[in-house]
Amino acid sequence: MAAIQAFDLYRFFHTRDSETLALRGVNLRIEAGEMIAMVGPSGSGKSTLLSCLAGLDEPDGGYVELSGERLTTLRPEAVRASRRAEGIGILMQPGNLFPTLSIADNVRLPMAMIGKPNAARIGALLHDVDLTDRQHARPGHLSGGEAARAGLAVALATSPRVLFADEPTGQVDAAAEERVLDLLGRQRAAGTAILIATHSQALAGRADRVIRLEDGRIVDV
Ligand SMILES: Nc1ncnc2c1ncn2[C@@H]1O[C@H](COP(=O)(O)OP(=O)(O)OP(=O)(O)O)[C@@H](O)[C@H]1O
Ligand SMILES: [Mg+2]
Repeated sequence: MAAIQAFDLYRFFHTRDSETLALRGVNLRIEAGEMIAMVGPSGSGKSTLLSCLAGLDEPDGGYVELSGERLTTLRPEAVRASRRAEGIGILMQPGNLFPTLSIADNVRLPMAMIGKPNAARIGALLHDVDLTDRQHARPGHLSGGEAARAGLAVALATSPRVLFADEPTGQVDAAAEERVLDLLGRQRAAGTAILIATHSQALAGRADRVIRLEDGRIVDV
């Protein structure tokens, strides 16, 4: 059974005078312990695909299964939210940090939501992303690269089976990127299925597989 699988996903956006076909029939299967890098030009549908896979957005056609259970159209919404909280770590482009909480409390929050606060794991994750010294800071006081690393720690807080990240190393320097890659590598070795939208060659080079989106479709690399 795949960790997560998308079946023929379509997503349309209607605005006043135009229609965008953001996804046009995407099929994707990610196994436990597999890391996939997703590349493609700006506007090709990468963030839209991540949102639909994570159950944050509803596709207009097709569906997503998380460990064989249909996530798309799963109701009530509270049940879908709890499957997401338990099974999926998400770092989207605008970030996932609550501005009024410290970095450590941001990492604690997803654990608290599923009733599994774990101080030792918070410390270990902050160490892994090299933010131990900044754990009491508010997100607004972090640099772009620090905020991205903090966001990754939040996404990994609950040891999710599936991790989605949108450009996690977009604003980090080479040394910080190496740390993030090491962390992702350990997560993959622990069996997490990982899909990352990225423009980074280093990250794509470490992936088991690279997929390319163009105009809402997966094309051959
Ligand atoms: N909420 C929305 N309403 C209208 N159009 C949208 C919406 N979200 C995305 N789109 C459009 O859908 C297309 C795909 O957008 P998406 O954000 O998925 O691209 P992307 O591949 O992530 O790009 P980038 O590399 O710049 O992040 C774009 O044409 C975008 O303008
Ligand atoms: Mg995007």
